[in-house]
Amino acid sequence: MKSLVILISGRGSNMQALLEAGFQADRITVISNNPNATGLEIARKYGAKTIVIDHRTFPDRQTFDTALAEKIDACQPKLIALAGFMRILSDRFVQRYQGRLMNIHPSLLPAFPGLGTHARALQEGIKIHGCTVHFVTAQLDHGPVVIQAAIPVLPEDTEETLAARVLQQEHRIYPQAVRWFMEDQIRFTENHVEVIDSSVREIALYSPGLPE
Ligand code: GRF
Repeated sequence: MKSLVILISGRGSNMQALLEAGFQADRITVISNNPNATGLEIARKYGAKTIVIDHRTFPDRQTFDTALAEKIDACQPKLIALAGFMRILSDRFVQRYQGRLMNIHPSLLPAFPGLGTHARALQEGIKIHGCTVHFVTAQLDHGPVVIQAAIPVLPEDTEETLAARVLQQEHRIYPQAVRWFMEDQIRFTENHVEVIDSSVREIALYSPGLPE
């Protein structure tokens, strides 16, 4: 049995891209820390099981993480995919799932870890921006990179237009990364991503070029 857990907090568009991808997973469970996440409704439409663990009802991060881990463990997931999950996870939690905890981040890491990536990219005047799927390790937004997609930053770009074009690429690379992992084509070893299957080629960079 291959089970997948997706953690969300809000809109859930990356979660939707994963649910639409139809990769080998016998059971998909979506867990949200936010009872009002719009992604929960989408998940139900796709027939995924949904669980809400409202972090505001816990006295501290550790007790929330413990409750979250209990729910995750009950699913016995092969992979836990963070998809816009807006909680910082404790070191103990990250350690527990090391090697099977993935995240999507809206920048070309290691540039712009943290929040506000598109505004910071515009402010810095960089010409290439993008998104990264990486394994989660103790240092926030710094784990080994699975796949990245790059897009050009255009002179007329605003935070919104840039975010929208990056998001299109997020929806492309996250299902790809999760598929590789679920089908045992890649794995996490000694802080690196090891490619097991030689058919995995486009692991470094998608470069979609100028928008039409
Ligand atoms: C995405 O930009 C993702 O990269 C970041 O949070 C956002 C979540 O969007 N981690 P959505 O909920 O998947 O639509």
